[in-house]
Amino acid sequence: MSDPVLPPELLFGTATAAYQVEGAAHEGGRGPSIWDTYCRTPGRVARGESGDTACDHYHRYPEDVALMAGLGVDLYRFSVAWPRIQPTGRGPANPEGLAFYDRLVDTVLEAGIEPALTLYHWDLPQALEDGGGWRDRDTAHRFAEYAGLVADRLGDRVRRWITLNEPFCSAFVGHAVGRHAPGTREGRPALAAAHHLLLAHGLAVGELRDAGAEQVGITLNPDHLLPATDSAADRAAVERARTLHNRTWLDPILTGAYPDNETETWGALADGAHRREGDLEVIAQSLDFLGINYYRPIMLRDAPHTEPDPELRTAVDIGTEQVPFEGVRHTTMGWPVVPDTFADLLVDLNRRYPGLPPVFITENGSAEDDRPDTRGRVRDTGRVDYLRDHLASLARAIEAGVDVRGYFVWSLLDNFEWAFGYERRFGLVRVDYDTLERHPKDSYHWYRDFLREHRARRTAP
Ligand code: FCB
Repeated sequence: MSDPVLPPELLFGTATAAYQVEGAAHEGGRGPSIWDTYCRTPGRVARGESGDTACDHYHRYPEDVALMAGLGVDLYRFSVAWPRIQPTGRGPANPEGLAFYDRLVDTVLEAGIEPALTLYHWDLPQALEDGGGWRDRDTAHRFAEYAGLVADRLGDRVRRWITLNEPFCSAFVGHAVGRHAPGTREGRPALAAAHHLLLAHGLAVGELRDAGAEQVGITLNPDHLLPATDSAADRAAVERARTLHNRTWLDPILTGAYPDNETETWGALADGAHRREGDLEVIAQSLDFLGINYYRPIMLRDAPHTEPDPELRTAVDIGTEQVPFEGVRHTTMGWPVVPDTFADLLVDLNRRYPGLPPVFITENGSAEDDRPDTRGRVRDTGRVDYLRDHLASLARAIEAGVDVRGYFVWSLLDNFEWAFGYERRFGLVRVDYDTLERHPKDSYHWYRDFLREHRARRTAP
């Protein structure tokens, strides 16, 4: 199958996140984060694994940047570990922490690659969690202060800034499903966390603009939600899920309003007690781009609440249940591969939100059952097909009028896949966790060749 052709000006990159690749958890003055604590709690992460060593990117970043240069990417999306900059989440910056990202950014730029910096990819300093974490309004102010410290140091070289990665996961997977740090199952406090994450985003946008940042955005993971049947009950279930997954974030940020169906979604929990006047104005500042992470669609049906007492429900108990997709391939994450839904989602968002900012696909990729042959070669055709088909779908969304400016593959490297540990592999490059050696997979070579063709069209007369 031939590769899709995308507009020549579209930028391409690869993405990683600090806790998933850096390792060096106890070096450079880094303080503990909620993920260190979560990983040390028995039964939380598969096989008791942690990001203590991860890919040792903290020490091996020159090799990793060289791998990216070999791919020919325009951009590298990485995240800064807040507990490297402020080990307890407050106070002056730790010089060693800033120095690490200083070296990383310089190395990336020297390789002809532009850095795209995410300030928060889930590693909240544990000391802030001890004081209430995202449930507490003050954490939003702490985040803005941290954003200012990073921007003051790196703003002269980093043009593209992402405040938060997938606040849906921080708020709801962290505080209601309990499958991410801090790993609790809460109702109102999870909704408070969602609001304080939004506020943190808005305050940080202000700090970044004051520091002269050119391109400021946020990365969300809006889901493409489909009803299992056409029944009114299943369609209503999808609307509640749309608020949980998508509208809670997109509506305040892009329209300056909270979703109008919060009571239908959360019932008694939707009292908004943690909100203050003026918050929406802070949250709804204009953005230069919207980052979207996309992996797979979700099918839902109406289902009874798991907790009958409305006061005791977690924020994710909205009376829905996931329905499996039949007849499609599933990745090792158990995620259905339905590439058309990628375009469907983007077109739908473009219709629902007039004035949608330019979009960067900040993550897209696939976990596969990679098996190296005796020579170490990984023939990851499933991943190549996934990427090619999703890029074809992206091309369709662009033709339909969605303003997409860039696309990042998740991920450059196999890495620590949160509660699944190291078993789920998303990398274009295989990491041997015994030796920490890197081995480009077939998908790496495919992406390199694809980018070579893409760049050739840029310079063509
Ligand atoms: C996203 C996360 C990223 C990675 C991928 C597979 O939700 O942002 O860190 O784990 O999923």
